[in-house]
Amino acid sequence: MSDIVITRCAGAAQFAAILALVHKAFGALTPPSGALNETLADVAARFEAGPVLIAQDGGELVGSLYGALKDGGLYLTRMAVKPDRQKQGIGRALLTAAEAEARLLGAHKLTLRVRVNLPENRAYFERAGFRVTGQGQDPGRPPYEAMERPLASAV
Ligand SMILES: CC(C)(COP(=O)(O)OP(=O)(O)OC[C@H]1O[C@@H](n2cnc3c(N)ncnc32)[C@H](O)[C@@H]1OP(=O)(O)O)[C@@H](O)C(=O)NCCC(=O)NCCS
Repeated sequence: MSDIVITRCAGAAQFAAILALVHKAFGALTPPSGALNETLADVAARFEAGPVLIAQDGGELVGSLYGALKDGGLYLTRMAVKPDRQKQGIGRALLTAAEAEARLLGAHKLTLRVRVNLPENRAYFERAGFRVTGQGQDPGRPPYEAMERPLASAV
């Protein structure tokens, strides 16, 4: 974990690697995630919408996270850690970096959605300080819970 470097994605040259990582990380979810249908055009759209954070270890991409300003918060989607690098703190490090991005962008909270049928994800984000603020369902998609975490007070 000590060699993990988190930066903003610099541009299109990294899109293919990010897409492959997201497909790998979301590949194990049941029922299959909509992330598996996403293409390079979707990564480009996320890049236009807000900061895309990447975690690298010695130049290898091991994590990624999309952010977009929404309703006063930095809305996080498709948080992904390479399957053989999970549970090493990379996800937490991505969240910490997202908080710094949120602050720079003037947002006052981190927000995200978790699928109701993935309670382990909800539990993960609760342990990371998020709380459930509501529920919803988009047409043709599984129900979700909305979660948010206020930014830590500046010291
Ligand atoms: C969800 C996801 C992004 C989490 O990433 P991660 O890097 O595994 O998360 P972390 O390592 O930060 O935390 C996982 C656990 O490992 C623990 N951990 C962290 N560093 C550790 C270390 N060095 N040794 C052992 N355990 C460690 C953390 O404390 C945490 O425990 P907790 O869940 O009890 O709080 C990742 O599992 C993933 O890509 N999942 C598939 C895609 C997905 O579902 N994304 C979320 C959509 S809402």
